[in-house]
Amino acid sequence: MNNKSKIYVAGHKGMVGGAIFKALKDKGYENLVGKSSKELDLRDQQAVREFFETEQPEIVIDAAARVGGILANNNYPFTFLMENMQIQNNLIDTALQQNVEKFIFLGSSCIYPKLAPQPLHEDCLLTSSLEPTNEWYAIAKISGVKACEAIRKQYGKDFVSLMPTNLYGPNDNFDLQTSHVLPAMMRKFHEAKLNNNAPVTLWGSGTPMREFLHVSDLAEAVVFAVENKFEDNLYNVGTGVDLTIKALAELIQKTVGHQGEIIWDSTKPDGTPRKLMDVSKMATQGWKAKIKLEDGIRETYDWFLQHAHSYKEVKI
Ligand SMILES: NC(=O)c1ccc[n+]([C@@H]2O[C@H](COP(=O)([O-])OP(=O)(O)OC[C@H]3O[C@@H](n4cnc5c(N)ncnc54)[C@H](OP(=O)(O)O)[C@@H]3O)[C@@H](O)[C@H]2O)c1
Repeated sequence: MNNKSKIYVAGHKGMVGGAIFKALKDKGYENLVGKSSKELDLRDQQAVREFFETEQPEIVIDAAARVGGILANNNYPFTFLMENMQIQNNLIDTALQQNVEKFIFLGSSCIYPKLAPQPLHEDCLLTSSLEPTNEWYAIAKISGVKACEAIRKQYGKDFVSLMPTNLYGPNDNFDLQTSHVLPAMMRKFHEAKLNNNAPVTLWGSGTPMREFLHVSDLAEAVVFAVENKFEDNLYNVGTGVDLTIKALAELIQKTVGHQGEIIWDSTKPDGTPRKLMDVSKMATQGWKAKIKLEDGIRETYDWFLQHAHSYKEVKI
């Protein structure tokens, strides 16, 4: 593999795929391929086969998925289950048929059981029940992890699965119905600041603990996986550090410069009390996250301000 190797990043227009595409470009990889969902619908097996036959990628990174927060997952279970399985199955199976050298599959920490011991170790996969609100998405992702593991086992090929923790950064989704907690808070504080520092109401008690990884750090981890042979199939990617939702809210409030009250709506669910990744396996491979949360939030807010009229709002 060298900087002329053909690398296909599926989902290169998305938050994660975009960051990976940029990180590879910045590192000097010059033979990158990407297609939007309009140009290539990854649910269409025939179209995916034809694309691979034409492009003959040597490395494939799967950052394409139907993604969303609790509300979207809960309201559209079949969409989340089926579309994600279709996308990943077409990519994984075609990559195998076409003898792709390396395949990197991206999932998320929701693959792990709801009550798994913290921090979440890769070995707790499939040891007990999933969080019901996103089990459809999680089941699709688990089947992707298992497909890559099965290919490793049966064919000895370098198919690897990376499970990032909660991500944030430029190009995030800022729609309040479908977004994740960090961009939703950022938008709420920003709009409240413009509205004479009106109070901001946030869901739950603020006590749950969560971990956040900057998307550029994840992109670096993917480049690391492109350049290094991994001994195993499944690796967590995170910072290994968490904070309460209340502390996160205060950090975002300070960064945004909102000076109003925060109201915690305890009639709304908190979700899992704690969700922290055990990142020791990835550290053993030689990779660690670098970007501090304060710096990452500042950079993301700067990006948000620059895109205040054009940021993404994903509707389903
Ligand atoms: N965001 C997070 O906090 C987070 C955390 C952990 C893991 N991840 C993982 O990272 C991956 C990407 O997430 P993201 O946040 O980057 O999502 P995103 O911004 O919504 O991007 C998803 C990408 O998938 C593409 N896509 C969706 N359906 C497609 C289809 N039918 N055919 C072709 N392309 C399709 C979209 O293409 P178009 O833009 O062209 O429509 C888009 O570029 C997912 O596997 C997710 O589980 C994300």
